[in-house]
Amino acid sequence: MKSIGNIGLGSVAAGLALCAILAPLASAAELCGLEPTPSCGGDIREYSAAMRPSDEALAFDNLPGFTRSASHFDHAVVSVESRVWAGQRGWKKATTAHIVSPARGANFAMYLADMGEESSGEPAAAGVERFAMVLTGEASVRHGKKNIQLGPNSYAYFPPNSTDVLSSEDGAGLLIYERLYSAGGKPVFSHGEVEESPLLPTGPEVFKLRKLLPQTTDYDFNVHIMDFQPGEYLWVKEVHYNQHGLLLLEGKGIYRLGDKWYPVQAGDAIWMAPYVPQWYAALGSTPTRYVIYKDTTVDPLLG
Ligand SMILES: *[C@@H]1O[C@H](CO)[C@@H](O)[C@H](O)[C@H]1NC(C)=O
Repeated sequence: MKSIGNIGLGSVAAGLALCAILAPLASAAELCGLEPTPSCGGDIREYSAAMRPSDEALAFDNLPGFTRSASHFDHAVVSVESRVWAGQRGWKKATTAHIVSPARGANFAMYLADMGEESSGEPAAAGVERFAMVLTGEASVRHGKKNIQLGPNSYAYFPPNSTDVLSSEDGAGLLIYERLYSAGGKPVFSHGEVEESPLLPTGPEVFKLRKLLPQTTDYDFNVHIMDFQPGEYLWVKEVHYNQHGLLLLEGKGIYRLGDKWYPVQAGDAIWMAPYVPQWYAALGSTPTRYVIYKDTTVDPLLG
């Protein structure tokens, strides 16, 4: 090892000596190369892009390698360009992009399903409950003898071992939450429209809150819809055992996760592990709406 080290140092020394000899011999033109620069007598550069960046430059959209996505032990931010779409067992003529799963310690899965024409989603695996929210297009559920239409902004909950099939004739974009049911109760199929769900008291908070599933011990998670006017922010700086999977549906703001502060906008998804400090401020010029999974009612010690 010692002799290899000596050879390396020797080579560097020889290289430096050669440079010292050659440098004074090279003409200024050779050093400056073919493209003139200010220091080589070329035109004076100006930096208008640095003085007045365009909105496009501020968005960083087209800079290769740039992403706001981040992954840490207790949280992750997944922005649109980081979604990976793939075929998934049970989904026909549809692709899915998983954003949260037990692979990173979560007690649930959160994914988007891009359903094409004449597509379908088979029931979830045995013992798994599923919540589906329609983001775009139209889906339908065959529930017993009924055929239930689900338009944008509507949702359906399928209890564990449901045999109902989700389908779409003309295509639909869905947000899906799934969990291995762990409450020991009797959850039942339900569906509805977000705006039909009543607003719940939130004081001292100012945001508007809806919970899309019944608040009983039959359910081991709920799905909240939270609305903020521009400038509104969370009063509490929560740290809790519950886990979250969030999708920003509308608006922009800053999400604080642990010691990091993330600018976020519609389309961004967030995974929050237990006990990550969390806080949000809606700072865009338009209202924020997000949908968020929260596990509930299961004993934190035994769950
Ligand atoms: C779901 O079905 C499996 C058998 O396929 C059964 O073991 C399990 O208890 C059922 N789960 C629920 C919550 O009904």
